[in-house]
Amino acid sequence: MKIRALVMGLVVGSFSMAAFAQAPIIIKFSHVVANDTPKGHAADFFKKKAEELTKGKVKIEVYANSTLYKDKEEMEALQIGAVQMLAPSLAKFGPLGVKEFEVFDLPYMFDDYNELHRVTQGPAGKMLLDKLEPKGIRGLAYWDNGFKSFSSNKPMKSPADMKGLKMRIQSSKVLESQMRALGSLPQVLAFSEVYQALQTGVVDGTENPISNLYTQKMHEVQKHLTLTEHGYLGYAVITNKKFWDGLPADIRKQLEEAMVEATKFANDVAKKENDAGLEAVKKSGKTTIYTPTAAERLEFKKATVKVHSEMESRIGKELIQSIYKETGFDPAKL
Ligand code: LMR
Repeated sequence: MKIRALVMGLVVGSFSMAAFAQAPIIIKFSHVVANDTPKGHAADFFKKKAEELTKGKVKIEVYANSTLYKDKEEMEALQIGAVQMLAPSLAKFGPLGVKEFEVFDLPYMFDDYNELHRVTQGPAGKMLLDKLEPKGIRGLAYWDNGFKSFSSNKPMKSPADMKGLKMRIQSSKVLESQMRALGSLPQVLAFSEVYQALQTGVVDGTENPISNLYTQKMHEVQKHLTLTEHGYLGYAVITNKKFWDGLPADIRKQLEEAMVEATKFANDVAKKENDAGLEAVKKSGKTTIYTPTAAERLEFKKATVKVHSEMESRIGKELIQSIYKETGFDPAKL
């Protein structure tokens, strides 16, 4: 009897050990935008690649559209290990204490994606990701979205038109300063709250890359969109450092490989998706789209350039100067 029980125990035990050995590692990847955006598509691409390369040993669960956590909560959730991966906008690292990322928010700092990639893929990009380590976070990659434009219910052809507008911003002091430089009243709101705030008039307007504006249907509650393209919005893909370091080395390597491919994918689709979003907004006929003239663009630049020097003490003069070197931006030339 005893021997039978022992044998049974061993059999059951080895079954459950086998089940345990096969249980996939779950990675919860939470984000706040729609699936049908550059970040949404890149997260889905990463899921597919990672599951393929690890042959199912890792399962990625993507939670889009703030279904799991909103902006601020998702950072906390990552730090305590309730989720394993995020890709927050670079404008959202200030509250975490890594305010240097706000260098990407400086108005008109970047003219195109190439200038940006020289920074994100160079020493400054690495230095910024390294700053996350003491917070228990590992930075894995930068993913593009695009260049932001202003929307509101009023035509906006010059900085004077922005005066007194209540404008939603992400949680960045640079963006706050940018809005104040234009005479607008900045208000920080979580991304998930923006549509309703625009609809109910809690705020008058906001700034977005068009892919975000369109997929959140903000154009349905914004009569005017001015293609200022005054600032960049992109992401740092981050993970919980303890979780990442605790992965078996071969799995970590496969995930890193999947991330390299997902990053390439993200940066390839970002512009196309923003262009498609603009076409879709045009087609909807719900928003009047205005393209500023070169002179009007210069006016916006001149009105906001002081933000660069105002934010030196927050971001670091050296970091700002090193980025000027890469982008050729020269405030003295305006
Ligand atoms: C925003 O809050 O406007 C963006 O950061 C949303 C996003 O993740 O693109």
